[in-house]
Amino acid sequence: MKKREIWASRVGLIFAAAGNAVGLGNLLRFPSKVALYGGGAFMVPYFVALFLLGIPLMILEWVIGRYAGARGHGSMTGIMGSLFHHANWARVLGSLGVAIPFLIVCYYIYIESWTLGFAFFSLLGQIPEPVASSDPKTAMTPYVEFFKSYTAPSPVAIFFLLVTLLINWYILQRGVVKGIEFTAKLGIPALLLMGIFLAVVSLSIRGGKGFEGLLYIYTPDFSRIWDPHVWLEASGQIFFTLSLGMGAIATYASYVKAREDVLKAGLWTAGINEFVEVVIGASIAIPAAFAMFGALAVPELAKEGTFRLGFMSMPAVLMALPFDWLLSALWFLLLFIAALTSSLALIQPLISLFEDEMRWKHSKAVNVSMLMVSVGAFLSAFLPGFIDELDFWAGTFMLVFFALVEIIVFVWIFGVHKFHHELTRDVFMKVPKGFVYFFAITSPIFLVALLYQWGVLQLPKVVASADSTVVIARLFILSTLVFLAFVAVDSRRRYLSGPHL
Ligand code: ALA
Repeated sequence: MKKREIWASRVGLIFAAAGNAVGLGNLLRFPSKVALYGGGAFMVPYFVALFLLGIPLMILEWVIGRYAGARGHGSMTGIMGSLFHHANWARVLGSLGVAIPFLIVCYYIYIESWTLGFAFFSLLGQIPEPVASSDPKTAMTPYVEFFKSYTAPSPVAIFFLLVTLLINWYILQRGVVKGIEFTAKLGIPALLLMGIFLAVVSLSIRGGKGFEGLLYIYTPDFSRIWDPHVWLEASGQIFFTLSLGMGAIATYASYVKAREDVLKAGLWTAGINEFVEVVIGASIAIPAAFAMFGALAVPELAKEGTFRLGFMSMPAVLMALPFDWLLSALWFLLLFIAALTSSLALIQPLISLFEDEMRWKHSKAVNVSMLMVSVGAFLSAFLPGFIDELDFWAGTFMLVFFALVEIIVFVWIFGVHKFHHELTRDVFMKVPKGFVYFFAITSPIFLVALLYQWGVLQLPKVVASADSTVVIARLFILSTLVFLAFVAVDSRRRYLSGPHL
């Protein structure tokens, strides 16, 4: 049997994991949510969720990924199976952790392709010229129209979607070390440099007026501390940005060597991600919009949708500065690199399922995975509302639900003692067992409260709407779940009859 790949170096592993987490969530979704939910009011639950849920779950996925990787499994189907003698219930439950990243990447990769297209348009000088007006609506009009006609979708948008799919396909075909690790080693340092540069530019617009935007984010505001919407959105952001409850972190963790320090790796992943979110991400889109359009305009912009700040307000601001096209190209290239390293991570669990569980050759596993992703991506491109529906179910609800499943399965059922043993094996610091107990009790309470609020506040609104696109999206989600559950059961037979690691 072919040996599974392992990351070639510690630096490569950390960069790949950082690339997994750092993505559009940090640079587009975060500023948009912050602006929508009251700046400093959003940041209070954000940090609570980061420390109570984000960091512990990050470490949990690393620990379990290393455990299962040493036994030849990298997808949640195999990971959950390997803990329970490959019982069908565990494999089927685990298959949710393959469905979630797959469903997310179906729309994520389409948005990724916009960033590539916009970067090219910027380089070619095709982004509209700014309109001299202090009224944000007027100033933004050409950019809104440009965005709408591009994402209609235009033939160019489809061209860049194909290019983006091929880039992902090629990198994944090269494998974990030569493909993913190599891309991350180039991409993450470039991303950090470009991000820091654009943060400095945004903060210094109009003699440092951008700093007011940063103050808006970092002035603690407890006025909405009892508002469940803010808690829901802030916690949801933690899951999305850290790629938690998706299975994607555990898949990357399965490619470490048997004695890798997963505690250190988990802390590095969370640390780099948070640096790119709360330092770099906080210093670009919101400060730039603050400086150009004023404080009142920012929440209004965010209300118009997640893409308003990144795809319309940012080019409107950058195109009014010296070296306009270059700055605009840098911004979209930054988004593209961030998105690319994440989309690779969202597809890898599916590849790992086919390779490790179905025993397919790497090339076949990648080809089938990419064909599946392509179908989802084209549906996202052509069906209006498909993106929102997938984002609502897979990118919001399922993450929280699967995180709860992970804690119950990996800590409660696997056992606190066994989990603690794995957690403290070959790591730089012995985490006391009391922490595991604390986490095992507090985080499920937190998660159940979130799910309850979600059910009360958001579910009724969404369930009420059921036009034909929504029905297609729901059928797509359902058939993905059924298909992957079937693969989980079917591959068990293959696994048990085949050679083992
Ligand atoms: N964690 C990835 C992001 O933030 C999915 O975009």
